[in-house]
This record gives sequence, C-alpha cells and structure tokens, in this order.
Amino acid sequence: MMGRMLRFSLFGESHGRVVGVLIEGVPPGIKVNLEKMKAELERRKGIKRFSTKRRESDKPVILSGVFNGFTTGSPIAVIIENKDVDSSYYEEIKNTPRPGHSDYTAKIKYFGFNDYRGGGFFSGRLTAGIVIAGYFAKEILAKAGIEVKAYIKSIGKVKARNLSVEEIFSSKNSFCPDEEVFQKMLEEMERARKDGDSVGGIVEVIALNVPPGFGGPYDEDLEGDLAKAFFAIPAVKGVEFGLGFKIAELRGSEANDPFVVKDGKIMTETNNCGGILGGISNGMPIVARIAFKPTPSIYKPQRTVDLEKIEETEIKLRGRFDSCIVPKALPVVESMMALVLADHLLRWLSWKGFMSLGKG
Ligand SMILES: Cc1cc2nc3c(=O)[nH]c(=O)nc-3n(C[C@H](O)[C@H](O)[C@H](O)COP(=O)(O)O)c2cc1C
Repeated sequence: MMGRMLRFSLFGESHGRVVGVLIEGVPPGIKVNLEKMKAELERRKGIKRFSTKRRESDKPVILSGVFNGFTTGSPIAVIIENKDVDSSYYEEIKNTPRPGHSDYTAKIKYFGFNDYRGGGFFSGRLTAGIVIAGYFAKEILAKAGIEVKAYIKSIGKVKARNLSVEEIFSSKNSFCPDEEVFQKMLEEMERARKDGDSVGGIVEVIALNVPPGFGGPYDEDLEGDLAKAFFAIPAVKGVEFGLGFKIAELRGSEANDPFVVKDGKIMTETNNCGGILGGISNGMPIVARIAFKPTPSIYKPQRTVDLEKIEETEIKLRGRFDSCIVPKALPVVESMMALVLADHLLRWLSWKGFMSLGKG
C-alpha cells in the first residue's frame, strides 16, 4: 500500500481473471468521467508497432466507491478483466528464467508458488491499475491547478533537445515534444524490433503549479516518496531530480538556484534542484527523469539455467512482448507522480486548514 492520506494497492495477475486497484482516501464529490479514465488506459498501450500483440480490452469496471457519478469517499475498487490470454507457453519456460525478468527472483521469494504465467504479479499489465489510480489523483490535483506531464527524453542513445517547460506542455505530440528527434526515436525502436531485440530510454516528468511546502525532511521527503513510487514501476533502473547526477560535477556557485522576485512571487532563477529543497517543494516546476531498461523479453537466444537440472542452457522466446516499453510507460510515470503529489496535497491542506483556526 503506497501513500498516507491517499493510498492504493494493486492486485491481480497478467494471466489471472483480473488486474485491479484499490484506492483509499479519495475525497468525496469528485465527478468521475469513465471515458477520460479509458483514454488514459488507451495511452498505456503505447505505440502499436512496438507493443505486445496482446489484444488487451482494458475496460475498467468500478466495483465500489462511486455513486451517481461521484466519488463517495469510501474505498474505490476498479478491475479490468483479462480476456486475451494464452498461458500455454509459460508452462514450457517455467524452469528456465528469462534473463532480466523477475522469473528467477519471484520463484525464490514465493517458494515456487507464484503465478508465473505472463510474469504474474510482476507483469507490466499491472500498471493499468496505477493508471486508474492516477486518474483519480489527477482529478484531485486539477482542483488545485496542478498539472503533470511526462514525455520521452531519450530512446537508447537518441536524445530529445532541452526544451522549455512551455514548449513541453503545449506540444501536440503526446510522446515527445521534439518532433524531429522523435522520428529518430521511432527508427531506433524499429531497428531493435527488427533485430528481435529491445531498447530502453528515459522519461522526463514535470509537475507545474505545485505550491511551496509539500513534503518534509527524512521520511516525509517529497523526493524520497517520488523516487520510491518511480522505482516501483517495473523496469525502472534510475531516478534523478533537476540536474541529477550532473550536479555532482559543479561548484556550489554554479549549482545553487538564486532566489528572485518575479511578478511579486518568490522564485528561483534556475531550477537545478528540480523544484525540491530539503525534501519540500519550493514552488518551481518539479522535474524528474526516470531511466527504463530495455524490455527483458527479447527474441534473440539468451543464456539461462534449467532450475530443475541445475544446468546451463539457452532460451529462445516466442510469445508477445514489447520491443520498447518507454512509450507505454508515460501515463504510468505521470500517474505515480500524480498519486504522490495528490497525497502530499491532502496532507498540506490538512495543516493549512488547521493553521486557519488561528495561531497560539
Ligand atoms: C508498461 C510496462 C510494460 C512492460 N511490458 C513488458 C513486456 O512486454 N515484456 C517484458 O519482458 N517486460 C515488460 N515490462 C518490464 C517487466 O515487467 C520488468 O522488467 C520485470 O518485472 C522485472 O522487473 P525489474 O525490471 O523492475 O527488475 C514492462 C514494464 C512496464 C512498466
């Protein structure tokens, strides 16, 4: 269960009956637009050419917490049925773990009782539940004027240019605001697909209009909560904020963001810290980058071990896999950021409400 005031937990398996999410702490009175939720789930299908051939229905069914079109304040449970499932192949490879996937560690951790079909609970399909929870989080944030947007920063070694926040938010391209480089990214994904291989990339996510004061030090740290949420997304191997690892190469005089007054508001001239100081939002855009590894399931032969015979062997996968999961991951990353920020918004509002009762 992630979050304090806004919490969610995922359930289901890739080839089980359903995948779903339980969300607790959503305030009452939020109008629920099922079409908007479905549109977010559609985005999670990524770019057709590079996505799994699985014809996922992704039709969300709300089981509780919504009445007469509005949230009630009670726990919200939403499921998606798994319809297009073929598990036969996973019986063949259950003793030969796919390199880079969770097959081996899941088998050890669950003493072999885990549902290994299609990656079970570790499947990327579970991220549909994150996107559903994210839909509610985005609705909460919208009330405070907070917007979240993720885009593809790089695919393999192909990198988008650094664009302004305005250019990123106003772009019509829902995958990458740098149109020219996006074509090269598509070519890179196509090359990997043709090679029977896969490719990874970096997603940048930005939150606008977050007021100063979300988060706190140590276990309340906004960076810590966001990092944990991003790392919980399958295939994430790196997270950085603002200048990230590059900041270590600078002098303090170069790294510090000078405070300035613009239109009567306290801001910083640069945003090397990515909108967070002392674990607390400073009112600037919150900027994070998340590195995704290449999809572990590839069609090229790979070395593995037969876990029954304890013998080295080779695995050559057949089945339906994404050659690049980065485009699919955009709404998932946005949702994780929205969920953490919505949780912190509710916490911040509770103190703000208390302070309004008077000092001393
Ligand atoms: C949206 C999404 C879709 C994914 N689809 C696949 C896939 O088709 N094939 C695959 O091998 N891994 C896929 N993954 C990645 C695996 O789920 C992940 O690599 C695996 O669970 C191992 O976890 P780890 O990479 O975090 O260590 C996907 C991940 C995400 C976020």
